[in-house]
Parts: sequence; C-alpha cells; structure tokens
Amino acid sequence: MPLILGIESSCDDLAAAVVRDGREILSSVVQSQDAVHAPYGGVVPELASRDHVRYLHVTVERALVRAAVSLEELDGIGVTSGPGLVGSLLVGLSFAKALAYRTGKPLLAVHHIEGHLASARLERDPLALPFVGFVVSGGHTALYRVETLGRIELLGQTRDDAAGEAFDKVAKRMGLGYPGGREVDRAAQEGDPRAFAFPRPMLRERGLEMSFSGLKTAVALQVARAEEDAGGALPRRVRADIAASFQEAMVDVLVTKARRALAATGLERIALVGGLAANRRLRARMTQLEGELGVEVRFPPTALCTDNAAMIAAVADHMLREGRVASLELEAFSRVPLEARPEGWS
Ligand code: KG4
Ligand code: ZN
Repeated sequence: MPLILGIESSCDDLAAAVVRDGREILSSVVQSQDAVHAPYGGVVPELASRDHVRYLHVTVERALVRAAVSLEELDGIGVTSGPGLVGSLLVGLSFAKALAYRTGKPLLAVHHIEGHLASARLERDPLALPFVGFVVSGGHTALYRVETLGRIELLGQTRDDAAGEAFDKVAKRMGLGYPGGREVDRAAQEGDPRAFAFPRPMLRERGLEMSFSGLKTAVALQVARAEEDAGGALPRRVRADIAASFQEAMVDVLVTKARRALAATGLERIALVGGLAANRRLRARMTQLEGELGVEVRFPPTALCTDNAAMIAAVADHMLREGRVASLELEAFSRVPLEARPEGWS
C-alpha cells in the first residue's frame, strides 16, 4: 500500500496531495492563483513562479497534515517535471528533489499529461482499461489511446492553440473576466448557439488532428464588428450569443473528434480530462454521444479535471511499482512529448 506525496507546480496552480495505493486520495490541496493573474487577464509566468516559491512549503505541509502522514511514512515523492512554464516547474521540482535527498525516498518524475489521463483512474470505480483519453485543457488538446499508465499512444492533437486557450482568449476579448473558460460557459447559458455561424475547423479532414486558432480569430473579428454596430461596448445579449455560438462550434469539433477516435480505435470507453471537461455544453453533448453509441463516457469530478497533485501522485505510484525512479539531476522540461521523453527521465 504505497503512500505517495505528489507535487504539481507546472503552471499557475500549486498543488500537493497524498495518495495511497495509487487510488485513494488522503489529501489534495490546491492553492489557486486566480486572484494574482486576474488583473492581467492571463497567466503572468514571473508572478506564477514567485507565488509558488511563497506557498509551496505550506501547501505540502498542509497536504501531509490533512492526510495525517509524516515524511518518514512516505514511499515516494512524485513531481511534475514537464511540460509547463519552466520557472514554475523548477520550483516544485527543486523542492521535491531536496525532500527526496533529505529523506532518502525515491523521486518520481511525472509527465503532466499522463497526470491528467490518470485522473480517470482516481475514482472509487475507476474507468476500465484500455480507454480513449481526451485531454482538453488550457495548454493541451490531444487524444490518446491509454493501454495502461506508462503505455499511452498519441492519436491526434491540436496544431496550434489549445481549446482552453481559445476559450480564455475569447473571454478576454469580450471582457468576460478571468479565468475565461468558466465565464464563457456561464455567458453562453443565456445565448443562442445558432446566432453566429463560426467555422468548425478540421471537420472535413478525416484524421484526429485539430486546430483552433482560426475559430478564435473568427470570433475576434465578429466581436469587433458587433462593437462597431453597437457603437461601443457589446450589449449583454450579443455577448451571450457570441459566447454560445463560439462554444457550440468548439464543442462540435471536440465531440466529432471524440467520436472518430472511438471509431478508429474500436474502444468503447472515453475519459475527458483537463479544465474544459468541466464545460457544461461539452458534458451534455458527450453524454448524448454515450447514449447514441452505447459507449462509456467518463468525466472525473471537476476538482480532479483541473490541475491537482492527486493525479501526479497516482502516476508516481505506478512508476514506483515499475522501478522508474528519477535521478536527482533531473531538469524541468517546458516542452516534452509524452511518447518521447528525454534521457534520464526514466
Ligand atoms: O487543466 P487546466 O486546469 O490547466 C491546464 O493544464 O491547462 O485547464 C484550464 C483551462 C483554462 O483554459 C480554463 O479556461 C478552462 O480550462 N476551463 C473551462 C471551463 N472551466 C475551465 N473552459 C470551458 N468551460 C469551462 N467550464
Ligand atoms: Zn493541466
């Protein structure tokens, strides 16, 4: 029954968690920086890493106290080593290395995306393997075939912006507040998804590649046009219509790609993970697909969809069992594909 401490600091959220046996969450603490970045309408890397330095040690301590576990009782320390903002990653990684050095416990280097995919296995009733894993977050939009943790194959991904990034930029352009995705989701509730015909990129191409920068630009142009028509700020109604129409285009693309990934792999299970898995319209449409195809669609609870350290500890647990321990010399990697990790990562 290994006890693992997980640490996640790859972007703007700082998190620590203790997980037993790769599945049972004894504690999961997330220190959000939304208030730090809100005035800028986006993550400011320098502020993110500085805030991590300030709170990391109390966040880890809180996770250990809530789990009622001492450092000595741990079997391993798992930490996100990439991808992410390098300054942010280094804070968590340096701290984890120091802890591993001082306690003599093994250090497990976790890939952030593998963490997201593991969140589908963190429930009482985990999604059976193999499954299609659809990572829809602020930094990534990619489909994977998950055979088991450690055996994951990329099926297709976005060529440019991540879906969450497009949500955030659309929100910022319309002055909807930060973080943007949730605000677009909220504004869209009052809007008409058919009010504007935005493009559905890459639906005609057969593969599983995606692209969202054209859609984002089309929305920005529409916002500018509507502002001109209104002679100033957008009326609430128009804002809601644009939000709903953008969200519908996005969800159309994501649901179509999910359907194709199921068909291409012949798998009957799919997990949506990452911040966008909290989107109400995406959930509703995927639930429809579940009924239509008779497949199993899984959304982990929102707290596990967004960045957290329980998912990092879950992967670390698996790596420990396979003896894939990292060296204390390990660096942080801002960009690193899941399928081709650098030497020394393990
Ligand atoms: O997984 P996550 O916390 O961080 C990354 O690893 O990127 O995802 C954050 C992303 C942000 O782009 C945020 O705007 C988006 O998820 N998001 C949403 C919703 N909640 C969060 N997007 C659309 N609808 C939501 N309800
Ligand atoms: Zn993430």
